[in-house]
Amino acid sequence: MAGLSLVPSLTAASADNSIAAGVSHLSASEAGERIDVLRGEIAYHDELYFKKSAPVISDGAYDQLKRELAALEVEFTNAVHDGGVSAEVGDDRVGSFATCRHRVRMLSLNKSFTETELRTFDARLKRQLGEHELDYVVEPKFDGLAISVTFEKGKLVRAVTRGNGVEGDDVTENLLTIHTLRKSLRAVTPAGATNPIPEVIELRGEVYLSFAEFERINRERESGGQTQYSNPRNLAAGTLKQLASAEVAKRRLEIVFYGVGACEPVGTRPDSQLALLRQLQAWGLPTIESPRRARGADAMWQAVQAVGRERARLGFPIDGVVVKLNAVALQDQVGVTTQAPLWAMAYKFSPERIETQLRAITLQVGRTGVLTPVAELDPVKIGGSTVARASLFNGDEIARRNIRVGDFVYVEKAGEIIPAIVGVNRAKRRPDTKPYVFPVACPICRADLVRSSGEAAWRCPNSSCQAQVKRRVEHFASAACVGISGLGPAMVDTLVEKGGVKNVADLYRLRREELRLLVGKGEKSTDHLLLAIEQSKHAELWRFIHGLGIPQVGATTARDLACAFGGLAELARGRREYFFQDGRLLIPGVSDSAARAVLAHFSQVENQQVVESLLASGVRPVKGVAASGAFLAGKIFVLSGTLPNLSRAQAVAKITAAGGKVASVVSRKTNWILAGGGGRSKLDAARSLGVVIIDEAEFLRMLGQE
Ligand code: IVH
Repeated sequence: MAGLSLVPSLTAASADNSIAAGVSHLSASEAGERIDVLRGEIAYHDELYFKKSAPVISDGAYDQLKRELAALEVEFTNAVHDGGVSAEVGDDRVGSFATCRHRVRMLSLNKSFTETELRTFDARLKRQLGEHELDYVVEPKFDGLAISVTFEKGKLVRAVTRGNGVEGDDVTENLLTIHTLRKSLRAVTPAGATNPIPEVIELRGEVYLSFAEFERINRERESGGQTQYSNPRNLAAGTLKQLASAEVAKRRLEIVFYGVGACEPVGTRPDSQLALLRQLQAWGLPTIESPRRARGADAMWQAVQAVGRERARLGFPIDGVVVKLNAVALQDQVGVTTQAPLWAMAYKFSPERIETQLRAITLQVGRTGVLTPVAELDPVKIGGSTVARASLFNGDEIARRNIRVGDFVYVEKAGEIIPAIVGVNRAKRRPDTKPYVFPVACPICRADLVRSSGEAAWRCPNSSCQAQVKRRVEHFASAACVGISGLGPAMVDTLVEKGGVKNVADLYRLRREELRLLVGKGEKSTDHLLLAIEQSKHAELWRFIHGLGIPQVGATTARDLACAFGGLAELARGRREYFFQDGRLLIPGVSDSAARAVLAHFSQVENQQVVESLLASGVRPVKGVAASGAFLAGKIFVLSGTLPNLSRAQAVAKITAAGGKVASVVSRKTNWILAGGGGRSKLDAARSLGVVIIDEAEFLRMLGQE
């Protein structure tokens, strides 16, 4: 078996979708069939990952498909395999950019998953080089999109994706939007030393997104009624391959450099990996900040583990560690294959994966009517937080993966953020389970579901559907929009179900007596809510525009519209000439499709009427935009007690990323107390000052991260 351990296949998407038994039990014909299935699956996932930047299984599940295939190929075909998972370069070209050839082929990395595999890698190198102990550099493995950036005489001239390794997409224009990327190499360091500037150098690195930026973009999409991105890698890849660089510039992509392709004259090439990293820094380029140097296998393994421990504190995604021979002379001696260098090895972290039972599949109706199936799970702890639900994406995905209610499923946090079902334990499937049948009618209003051509999602077409109305009202009242504190989901349910609230304008018609009967709580909470509703009449214009829930209008677009329009009435007139002149867009920052979405929204009389009613109820938005542009700008939180899932540091990071501040004492200026268990004194202070207390769930909802 060529030293390969057989890892059971966890094929979230494979034909039989089960944990396969050891492959050596298979007959030759069964193995042949399985090889065909696996090759088909891998090709399918390559297409989703490389071309569409939208994989449906985790990296871990994909790697295991490849391991199973490699093992079967070794046993049942004449393929040779040298341990670890072979690198697959794939092809990330999307067909809409000019193609550009790399001077030196862009390679991928061989992967390992265990300490033993890393030690085998070290042993192989020692054997090959006849050395007693080797000098390694251990770096984090950034989870983004590989890029090659060419500098000629120190000037940035081109940026090309890996493509098929030989040629890739020319994404120079988009890459130039990255704010931390210098357009020319620094000739002199700040300390006054002169830097060598090669005639030509291809620098290799990774484009990625920080977690904070990933969350910001998702929040904005959520508030624009669009589906969420599942992880930062796919979003970084999708963004860089977007065609309009103005759109790319709206997202803060980041870049890190860690390697070199062509370098002329050759003498200017640093002679070790550490020297290269130092040189990159001297040129003023972002690079690996604290590379670890390790002599020998023990130190190397310790350094790998240290990066693993550090991972949770990093603000950006990494999916493993890369171990590289330090000396270039030794690297050259060891050489490369057509796909990967033999002097480097990736060690991939295994995501925490837990088995649990799928109790039910429920359907969530979104603000725009899109139905998202949700897996209701027996709650399990993964990576320090409790997971009880996971998105199932859409009906086709459930059918393709043959997931059934009652199944025991494996749950992972894909990209460490959103829980996903990565496989089914078929051995435990009960015979009485049935394939899931996606409903034909909306579970709330019974309207026949519709699906536009080419779309995977089913939609409830009835905009008066109570579920949609509730989501729209919740969105309008959220802190990301006009911010009516005390109007959470439960209260919205009551107002929509019993209070006759049919749209956001109806909130301003609620009378005191009626509200007290509906709410059934004390006078004080009714008064608080009424006051909050009254105060919201003077929220900033962009908050109202955002709150109207126009498709594709997130907070940023709403701000751009607020700058261009004098008020709600003007916007709601929906006049084409306000947006376009001779087919050209007139509003800075607003995309063509968002402008058309606004026009389409206000072409419907009922949407115009909502704005008219708002104004008739005394809504008077203030013009002006919060300076920092972030939606919690100017808002003050106080944290109290221990939260069930988030650490204090995580909660603070989320608040500050959205522009808010955290204070230690409660005062009249405090907008919210985020409260967990314990911490009574702050809560008492909050109650006496009438400050709104929210729990973790409400906080996450506020951020659009529930
Ligand atoms: S070195 C010639 N170093 O991981 C070797 N790659 O899965 C080129 N990656 O293709 C790669 N962090 O896109 C190297 N510190 C790092 C890395 C890194 C992320 C990416 C790179 C590579 C992929 C393999």
